[in-house]
Amino acid sequence: MTNIKKIGILTSGGDCAGLNAVLMSVVNASAEKGWEVYGIHDGTDGLTNRPLSYEILTPENFSATPWPRLSGSYLGSLNTGVKESQEVLAQRFGEGVRELGLDAVLVVGGDGSMNIVSGYCKAAGVKMIGIPKTIDNDTPLTDFSVGFNTACQVCTTALDDLMTTARSHHRALILEVMGRDAGHLAMHSAISGFADICLVPEIPYTLEGIINKLEAVKKSGRTSALIVVSEGVKTEKGEAVTGAVNMVGEKINGGIGDYLSGLINANYKGFQTRVTKLGHVQRSGNPTAFDRGLAVVLGASAVQLLAEGHTNRMVAYSGGKITSFTLDEVVEAGTTGLNANSPYVKAARAIGMYVGEE
Ligand code: F6P
Repeated sequence: MTNIKKIGILTSGGDCAGLNAVLMSVVNASAEKGWEVYGIHDGTDGLTNRPLSYEILTPENFSATPWPRLSGSYLGSLNTGVKESQEVLAQRFGEGVRELGLDAVLVVGGDGSMNIVSGYCKAAGVKMIGIPKTIDNDTPLTDFSVGFNTACQVCTTALDDLMTTARSHHRALILEVMGRDAGHLAMHSAISGFADICLVPEIPYTLEGIINKLEAVKKSGRTSALIVVSEGVKTEKGEAVTGAVNMVGEKINGGIGDYLSGLINANYKGFQTRVTKLGHVQRSGNPTAFDRGLAVVLGASAVQLLAEGHTNRMVAYSGGKITSFTLDEVVEAGTTGLNANSPYVKAARAIGMYVGEE
């Protein structure tokens, strides 16, 4: 058992649907145990910046309010790297935790956050439990992260909407979706949205393969087509289409949709192409029932792990079960991309979608 009385919780990395449902779950489950919950503002910033930025959370923050049903993070989040040294940040993080008297910190984050914040916690001797969330679904050792399902729904709805205009104008419409260097979001959405072509960073493609598929669509008598491309896809030769970086020098993905559109138009006259870059709406939308359920179960499980005296673990949904892994295992497994032999890729090929070369 445990002598926990006060915990902190923060959301870190890109926001997504379901974060507030996680907060509600953690706050309510903690209240049931008589624990106090400190909500840390803006990811780790609330603990590493001075003055500290936080608020005490109670069930009243979430019950009978719209918050658990909304996207975004009630607490704010942080999605850009920082140029200060990790040692300095870890030290300030630890001092912040001690100043607030927190017995443990729950971190709702993706693979990057699990890596960075578990490093701070280890260096500062702080107990941590991770809860996976990301629209990219690339957090290791969990089949699904909170927010992924809703992002798939947003992309699928976009494909439904694009299909009607593609049909009216006899076009091949390209939808560029997020996902960083992982193709999960693109592949799952392409399958749900019945796309003809899906390009992901993990599988090489050829222009010839794309054109052959478009030509096959045309020969079948259909006058429109849908193409999904993941933002992390490179040129046929494996070069990035943009050298764009954010304010701290990290790579910004995007632009592959326009690149492909130009390439197809220059080499094939069967369809006009147009591009929709879905952007940050993929991190929003009403959390789906699946994401709400996952958020509640993972949040309550994280609290239960602490109550049972466990620490330095990440809760996970693996093989249909709720379980947990050590943070060392999570960090060692690293970012998890789409397996080119996954049932999803196989099914996509089986139904005739072009998903790149075998
Ligand atoms: O990791 C989530 C994510 O939305 C990625 O899919 C995307 O590449 C990135 O964050 C965008 O980050 P930002 O909000 O900093 O532009």
